[in-house]
Amino acid sequence: MGKMAASVVDYGEDAFRKIFKFYKRRQPPPDFSKVVDFSSGPVSDKVVSTELDPTSVSDGEAREVGLRPVREWRAFGLQGYPGFVFISNPFAPGSQPVWVRQCLKSYPQKPNVCNLDLHMPPGETEDIWGKSADALRCQPSGKRGPKTLLEKLRWVTLGYHYNWDTKTYSSDSQTPFPADLHSLSSHIAAACGFSGFSAQAGILNYYRLDSSLGIHVDESELDHTRPLLSFSFGQSAIFLLGGTRREDTPMAMYMRSGDVMVMSGPSRLLYHAVPRIIPTLSDSDDLIRHYPPPEGSTITGLVTAKDWEVCSRYIQNSRVNMTVRQVLGPGQSFPETQSAERGCDRVSDRGLKKK
Ligand code: SIN
Repeated sequence: MGKMAASVVDYGEDAFRKIFKFYKRRQPPPDFSKVVDFSSGPVSDKVVSTELDPTSVSDGEAREVGLRPVREWRAFGLQGYPGFVFISNPFAPGSQPVWVRQCLKSYPQKPNVCNLDLHMPPGETEDIWGKSADALRCQPSGKRGPKTLLEKLRWVTLGYHYNWDTKTYSSDSQTPFPADLHSLSSHIAAACGFSGFSAQAGILNYYRLDSSLGIHVDESELDHTRPLLSFSFGQSAIFLLGGTRREDTPMAMYMRSGDVMVMSGPSRLLYHAVPRIIPTLSDSDDLIRHYPPPEGSTITGLVTAKDWEVCSRYIQNSRVNMTVRQVLGPGQSFPETQSAERGCDRVSDRGLKKK
């Protein structure tokens, strides 16, 4: 009894916050040796290989959205986290640049909504890419000019637009969900056993090297039997996955460019956060190495060399994450009042918003 009380005191009331602050710390730098690295396979005793359904997605369907055949994916689970699936970069060589381009050039466009809309007149946020591309392309590396709109982008919402104030979705604020991301999400979900998943809302977070994402649970969706999908591109993140209570000590793992995470079942409503971005991306990384794409790549909307100049410059200092959600179950509709998302702090920059 005495021992248990001591451990509660040791960890404080909030073990998650303690670990969050540990990994966010700059000086002295934290010890990263306990961070699970799925790119090295099941090296930790907590990591287990997970079987996916290779028949759920044809090779052609996978190829169309830039994925390798499902039988080639390396998928893992974590002991103690049923429903959590980590797919270590299932993207085919040369296809990540296409998704990065979509996140930077296409998805921030109207009618989608972004953080800049909150304090800029509509005309000024209409062509974020067009207003930023030349400045980014010409920026000598290492030198910093005035921040472009693209560098000021923090979030974009798709489909049912998440309302950050009420922490709800509603039928009054909805625009078409991008078809390409809808297909990508359906295939990932189907391979994990969720055929029929329909992407209805997306939140894209844009992180600079000093950004973090606060501790939160994604519970505003009305159907929690559907998984939450998460796609990462660019620099790496330390991702923390906790329990259903803030007192549960979270596990730390790397999320690298191309990695996909699926939170479903008992893991759908777990606390999670991103305390730190780590610039691990190098020329040997798939994302960089495979531009221009190899012969025979069929993914639609190939990235032009001019686009790639901007994207590659941007991701040197950034990470982009897309979370995709199904908000309503089949036949479900929005009630009069909706539940709130607990403890949600969005991406914050060092110095601007302290945890
Ligand atoms: C991430 O950036 O990896 C997490 C995004 C989220 O939880 O919304």
